[in-house]
Amino acid sequence: MKSGEPPGGPRPGAPAPGSGKPKAAVRAPSQFLVWLDQRTGYSSLVKLVTEEPISGGPRWWLVFGAVLIFLLTLEGVTGALLAAHYDPSATGAWASTAFIQDSLSLGWFVRGLHSFGSTALLVVGAIHALQVVLFGAYRAPREMTWLSGLFLMAFLLLFALSGYGLPWDEAGYAAREVELAITGAAPLIGPTLQQVLQGGDAMGNYTVTRLGAAHTLVLPAISLVLVAIHVALVRRHGVTPRWNESEVTLARATRPYWPFQAARDAIACGLVMAILVCAVIATRGASLGGPADPTGDFQARPEWFMLPLYELRKILEGPLEMLAVIVAPATLALLVGALPWLDRARERDPRRRLPVLAGVAIATVGLAVLGYVPVRRDHRDAGFNRARAQAAERAQRARTLAMKGVPPEGGLAVYRNDPSFRVRELWNERCAKCHTFVGPAEHGPSAGAGDRDGGRRRPEAGPDLKGYGTRAWIAGFLRDPRAPGYMGRANIERGMKPVEGTPDEITDLTELIYAETGARDVDRARVERARPLISGKDCDSCHDLDGTTGNTGPNLKGYGTLAYVVDVIADGSEERLYGPKNQMPPFANVLTPDQIADLARFVLAEARR
Ligand code: HEC
Ligand code: HEC
Repeated sequence: MKSGEPPGGPRPGAPAPGSGKPKAAVRAPSQFLVWLDQRTGYSSLVKLVTEEPISGGPRWWLVFGAVLIFLLTLEGVTGALLAAHYDPSATGAWASTAFIQDSLSLGWFVRGLHSFGSTALLVVGAIHALQVVLFGAYRAPREMTWLSGLFLMAFLLLFALSGYGLPWDEAGYAAREVELAITGAAPLIGPTLQQVLQGGDAMGNYTVTRLGAAHTLVLPAISLVLVAIHVALVRRHGVTPRWNESEVTLARATRPYWPFQAARDAIACGLVMAILVCAVIATRGASLGGPADPTGDFQARPEWFMLPLYELRKILEGPLEMLAVIVAPATLALLVGALPWLDRARERDPRRRLPVLAGVAIATVGLAVLGYVPVRRDHRDAGFNRARAQAAERAQRARTLAMKGVPPEGGLAVYRNDPSFRVRELWNERCAKCHTFVGPAEHGPSAGAGDRDGGRRRPEAGPDLKGYGTRAWIAGFLRDPRAPGYMGRANIERGMKPVEGTPDEITDLTELIYAETGARDVDRARVERARPLISGKDCDSCHDLDGTTGNTGPNLKGYGTLAYVVDVIADGSEERLYGPKNQMPPFANVLTPDQIADLARFVLAEARR
């Protein structure tokens, strides 16, 4: 055998002389291996790999196939480790993923490798395909190699799609929901296909089970066969040599796979692994959102590689939608599959195949642009960013709670253990559209006397509650009640006017009202000094202070206490409060007394944060 000989010696690509066997036996490192080989013939399998002739000699361009095999193996190994801890059910999926991510030692690392590895597979697969196009490697007689590779790519996409749904978190769930709906809208087989994939009329437990079965059993089995076919076809035709060298030079430069191409492959795999490990460590692994909430309004976004399709669907919204989601991708797939037949140039030299290469380049750039546009749009969309920030906060909370254990009802039930989370949800749902917590001063001063803007302001917005009940908030209100951060946006009919007086008088009045909040650090002397001002400044023509009677302004007894806030939330149009001037919807019939009390406590706590 020749494989041990240095390069430049007899050409290993030439047919091996029949004398190899006895020599190998003599040189075998141990008698045991000889014995084993006689019984299993393993050495011929090793030779099959190591002695593959690389036509034209080793090249860096050839490493991508090996990197892909390496990544597939990595996915298999990490996938098996994850499967050992994952529970494919609607109640267990998120909980078990959160366990893997946050509690299992090195779970985050394995999950990160698996997730980033799948991205790497798609990226390297795309590079591999582009390189094949550039070199014309798909041309006769390698058309079937090309097609088998494309099928493999399609299965990699299905892997990624099914995998993204497995954690059953908000993002994965929402993306699955949209994609299943699109599947269902396809003509003829659509509805049936959707039913089969989601395991019934709606998404539920069987959806997770089926995603899991597809991802861990069906797809791997089919992909393994495809990999075997692809590799066998590559071996059958050999690697595609350089286009610009003669048969003779190629034959002279031909070397076996081992050791020089093998070394390049190994270095490339090592490099990819190093990048993956760094990326996983730098980001603490793959993201995990809060548990899927079928009633939530998470703004669905598909996986990154589906973004071009997503954008196309947005552009062609309406009756043309099917054009975007079925016709366009199918046409693209057909064109790509037909490339070996469309590419009719006489040579493989890229310079002679410019039309084909230009077409592929345009398609690639087009896809990249289509994928980038929605990312940029979201990036600039304040509403979207706010929703994502809220989702991230939910995720953080849910994962922290899950570390204490997830109730058997599933991921969503973790929230039940956390009243502060529930009340914040309630706030976001019921109150956040009118109230903020950024500080009244942030909204600027009122635009001047008679600040009415033609009286057409949106009446539904209420005061900013940051610092509500503190001296600063009260003083700010007295000086400028119609500032947008106070009652300006509420636009109360014949509301209170700015209090006129010396700064000292305002401070005294502020202290008097501050005393009503039940604060402990009240300056009693100031309060006493303020008493005469109540009638002096005419406050009492609109405000009572006894806590029972109503007037044109709210009765200020107990102003800012928990009980007062509860009453405002329950029904501000009570005579004792804002009366007919009330602009805020009453919640007494919408929320339970407990929820109202929780909200009042939340407002006071949040106001002082
Ligand atoms: C449609 C808009 C709107 C919604 C929704 C709303 N508010 Fe209000 N809120 C107002 C307005 C306007 C005022 C000013 C007083 C008034 O008109 O009753 C106010 C006043 C308040 C006050 C008293 C502030 C003060 O100066 O004494 C509190 C506390 C409050 N809201 C809490 C809440 C809570 C909690 C919720 C959610 C359950 C909520 N609001 C929902 C508009 C709203
Ligand atoms: C012309 C009637 C009128 C006079 C005079 C008046 N207020 Fe008011 N006040 C109101 C009304 C109406 C509201 C309800 C909110 C609004 O209109 O801005 C209010 C609200 C308030 C509030 C509660 C704001 C809130 O958070 O809901 C305080 C505190 C207050 N006034 C203090 C005073 C003081 C102190 C004086 C005297 C210097 C005074 N008011 C004079 C009518 C008046």
